[in-house]
Amino acid sequence: MNTLRVALLGCGVVGSEIARQMVEHADDLAARVGARLELAGIAVRRLDRDRSDTGVDPTLFTTDAVELVSRDDVDAVVEVIGGIDPARSLILTAMEQGKSVVTANKALLADDGFALHAAAEKHDVDLYYEAAVAGAIPLLRPLRESLVGDHVNRVLGIVNGTTNYILDQMDTHGAGFAEALEEAQALGYAEADPTTDVEGYDAAAKAAILAGIAFHSPVTLADVHREGMSGVTASDVASAKAMGSVVKLLAICELAPEGDAVGVRVHPAMIPREHPLAGVRGAYNAVFVEAEYAGQLMFYGPGAGGAPTASAVLGDVVTVARNRLGGVTGPGGSWYAERPVRPTGET
Ligand code: HSE
Repeated sequence: MNTLRVALLGCGVVGSEIARQMVEHADDLAARVGARLELAGIAVRRLDRDRSDTGVDPTLFTTDAVELVSRDDVDAVVEVIGGIDPARSLILTAMEQGKSVVTANKALLADDGFALHAAAEKHDVDLYYEAAVAGAIPLLRPLRESLVGDHVNRVLGIVNGTTNYILDQMDTHGAGFAEALEEAQALGYAEADPTTDVEGYDAAAKAAILAGIAFHSPVTLADVHREGMSGVTASDVASAKAMGSVVKLLAICELAPEGDAVGVRVHPAMIPREHPLAGVRGAYNAVFVEAEYAGQLMFYGPGAGGAPTASAVLGDVVTVARNRLGGVTGPGGSWYAERPVRPTGET
């Protein structure tokens, strides 16, 4: 049986779970791919942490990520370091050397997804990132593949698990903001810098990625109107409750009625309790997609956390492996048209 060698960049909440699942389910994955998926190495910042829970051979850990992605025997690189640099340069280096890339890096994709797609196309390699938006929920693939023949007019929903967890705890248990945030961090939902979650940057990055795919338009974080939820007080949540509503942080991506512009925004909103989004609890996410012919679709599930996010990453790894075995390359950048983007976030 053939072997495909995977370099893993990052071994935090998500990376350690990817490594653990790859080791634990190696035989099942091999059967599904038709080749063994072998970890070539795992790039970490420090070697002195106990990572025995992953079941990974300790000699696979390295602090030299550049050397790891440049190895001749590496076929694919999985990037879960997060942030812009060095993630960007490592991904570009990997692609230049003919390696396919799977990433969960929403910040980087929202900053410069266009350049990443262009590099993937130039070097004829795969670029997949299902885990970058809404954790375990299959959402980008349906938007990019199943709905590509339709006309998506609107994508709307809850795309940040941490803030939904906080707002839910405030609503149902009267929890304080700081206490609920601490819990979300302990559960592995929050970003390394949780300001990214509470100030809406994470949701805005995901909204940019969703809008880019849904509307075939090069949307970036800078195009998204963003308002976080740090200003939502216990009394706001209680007042909403008294009015039969809940407060949620929403991401809204809309095509202008004339179809000539895209507006993207993230802000807290009051939702009537009977609305399906009001029932999205804990760190779950839910996204509505409205398409001209398909009608209204709802995607729902765990939006954050190590195991759900790793599930989405591994799905992409299997796709990359199958593509390589079949001698084909996955989605490139050519699905981006040049539709104008309204920087105000309005349609
Ligand atoms: N911090 C993110 C969230 C993780 O809470 O949704 C998943 O992208």
